[in-house]
Amino acid sequence: MKQELADRNLIVSDEAAAFFSAWAIDEERHTDGFIRIIELVANGSEKDLRERLAARPHDFGPIVEHLKDEFSLMVMIAFDEMCTCRAYAAEKPFYDSLGNNTLHHWLREVIADEAVHSMNAVNVIRARYRDRIGQVHSILDNLIRATESLRYSGAFVLDYFGAVYSTELLADSRLMTMRNIARPFTV
Ligand SMILES: [Fe+2]
Repeated sequence: MKQELADRNLIVSDEAAAFFSAWAIDEERHTDGFIRIIELVANGSEKDLRERLAARPHDFGPIVEHLKDEFSLMVMIAFDEMCTCRAYAAEKPFYDSLGNNTLHHWLREVIADEAVHSMNAVNVIRARYRDRIGQVHSILDNLIRATESLRYSGAFVLDYFGAVYSTELLADSRLMTMRNIARPFTV
């Protein structure tokens, strides 16, 4: 993902650059945590899991047309993080059923991080692209349409596989993201 963004020269503003460095650190921490959980629950080895992660195909094909510029990228990320936040929230009962207090708190931290990521992306959009806020809804509509035919492509975003990523979850996340972006500016 990082490499793809660099190759495409998609990051132009300081705000977006700051967003991405903080975001990458959090997501790496989340990946480490998930690997540890899979090790505990499914008895997989870390090396094996990391190798499988690295071997995933990175096909940006389906989302490339939505990565036109920094603005469309930030809209996609604001939406994506809102979706993952809600998807993890939907998985709370599963994690709680494992009966581990650390896991319980860890999942809640991940959920809070995802919500913060979405809001940070929203704030970059509001700070830099106020004049383009009217385009957000059509970008999100196109993204949701693309996910209908999309299978997991290893692009790290729009990773919507599994039952929790329902049509309803996508629609709710779209609405929440649009509300957050379009909320009135206070002077
Ligand atoms: Fe995330």
